[in-house]
Amino acid sequence: MNKPKVYITNSIPKEVLDYIGKHCDYEIWDNEENIQREELKLNLKDKAGVMLTGIKIDEDLLQYAPSLKVVSNIAVGYNNFDIEAMKKRKVIGTNTPYVLDGAVADLIFGLILSTSRRITELDSYVKKGQWKASDDKNLYGTDVHRTTLGIIGMGRIGEAVAKRAKLGFEMEVLYYNRSRKVETEKSLGVKYSDMDNLLEKSDFIVLMTPLTKDTYHLIDAEEFSKMKRTAIFINASRGQTVNEKALIEALENKKILAAGLDVYETEPINKDNPLLKMDNVVTLPHIGSATARTRFDMAMTAAENLVKGVLGEKPKYVVPELEDLI
Ligand code: GLV
Repeated sequence: MNKPKVYITNSIPKEVLDYIGKHCDYEIWDNEENIQREELKLNLKDKAGVMLTGIKIDEDLLQYAPSLKVVSNIAVGYNNFDIEAMKKRKVIGTNTPYVLDGAVADLIFGLILSTSRRITELDSYVKKGQWKASDDKNLYGTDVHRTTLGIIGMGRIGEAVAKRAKLGFEMEVLYYNRSRKVETEKSLGVKYSDMDNLLEKSDFIVLMTPLTKDTYHLIDAEEFSKMKRTAIFINASRGQTVNEKALIEALENKKILAAGLDVYETEPINKDNPLLKMDNVVTLPHIGSATARTRFDMAMTAAENLVKGVLGEKPKYVVPELEDLI
């Protein structure tokens, strides 16, 4: 019997590729540069499955993929899925939850610490030979321990951040979420808060909500104006959850103290983005889940989703909006 045909747009570990090869005939984009949409369209003509990250899956693309059954995202976020278009064509979409929670939470703490203690800024100060006196008050940062952390979006990653904050840093943790999480409040000792109270009370604000039409520009000029002037803002979700112009304006006018960013409205970030010139902003290139172990686990999870999907079985992580298609 012929194996189902699949396409893979990312380079993935050999073990994962071998697993896919046992069940499917695969083709893989083998190039340093990311695959372009038009190239992908040509490759999807006869494929039952595709494994990818970040590429918009809409009617414009799906019309070139008449045999497609499953799109397997190598990511937990799936804002690249046009759910209506996929429903119409009965294409299921899957993601890779759980395996990246710890890595992303670790990185968020990296951003909290590097912004508050000015680690990247002072690293370049030392390397440039500017270090003169050790007890220079100009080098002071702000405390993390025993301050208040506000988490917007209390999913699994939010909970992993809260755990670190409560146990490791003795922080008071407020959270805002679409639905209240009473069990988490009990188990982690976090407190539910409305958005305004969280913005007003928090020393650190971590945005960890998925990007949907409801969370687009969730944090805008009004939200920044409610934050403390000493607040530090961290975004490791999706760039479009924040109005970046408003963030820049808040930083330029000292409405907040600093920002730690892993995501941007445009990625890769434009070279002339004012954020790149600010010493009080730590910028990372969307690496929340980028450790070898986590990326291996994500690739394997995505591969299992892909294989199940093309074999007509139920993949483990079908995104909730498309579960009815199974
Ligand atoms: C990364 O941004 C992901 O959604 O997994």
